[in-house]
Amino acid sequence: MIIDPHTLDAEAAYRLLTGIVVPRPIAWVTTRSADGIVNLAPFSAFTMVSNSPPIVGINIGARAGSRKDTARNIHETSQFVINIPTWDMRSTVHDSSREFAPHINEADELGLELIDSDLISPPRLAATPISLECELDRIVEFGDSGSEFITGRIVRFHIRDNLYENGKIDTGLLDPAARIAGPSYSRIKVVDTLAPIALSPKITKSKNGGVSI
Ligand SMILES: Cc1cc2nc3c(=O)[nH]c(=O)nc-3n(C[C@H](O)[C@H](O)[C@H](O)COP(=O)(O)O)c2cc1C
Repeated sequence: MIIDPHTLDAEAAYRLLTGIVVPRPIAWVTTRSADGIVNLAPFSAFTMVSNSPPIVGINIGARAGSRKDTARNIHETSQFVINIPTWDMRSTVHDSSREFAPHINEADELGLELIDSDLISPPRLAATPISLECELDRIVEFGDSGSEFITGRIVRFHIRDNLYENGKIDTGLLDPAARIAGPSYSRIKVVDTLAPIALSPKITKSKNGGVSI
């Protein structure tokens, strides 16, 4: 099968891409509007973009030509929390993506407890084992449908103690939920750990741990 992207409308391209870029981790994002209303929504176009300083990013599409509540809140307040949901939370994650009116706090609506963040105004979810308090780094618009890639500098990591050893996360214990196409979710069931690759002389490790080539 060969597909010329010019033959795809926005929805067809979305369907195709969300089946190709899989599995995607889920950022369950809490924000606060300028009026103080807390918002919760999931975003699986989620990745890390820098380790020094630690920066993560999410892509938020437009809804009927307007910003989704999460994007609007980040534009207004420059802060957000990325909470990492576990496999057993997938159904609540899914429910939280429904289109709630802007004045509705989805966390309250779904019975999820919120805890004050340490350094920023949006609260974090009590139930998730990892939460990242983020200050806005930048917002970059992509394409012609109002899609925005939003990056945030992590100012605080919250990691449940049992998941953390020697600076690393135990993925099996974290048991994260991932999204595949449509309303389908997947779980990490097989982990194959290979021998580490030795750094070649052309690659140097900087003092702060970053790797440059
Ligand atoms: C698991 C999951 C992942 C999602 N990922 C994205 C995404 O990466 N980008 C996006 O714009 N919408 C994504 N959505 C849809 C939003 O969650 C949905 O539009 C939500 O209503 C936005 O809420 P808000 O208006 O409160 O920000 C996803 C939905 C689900 C269930």
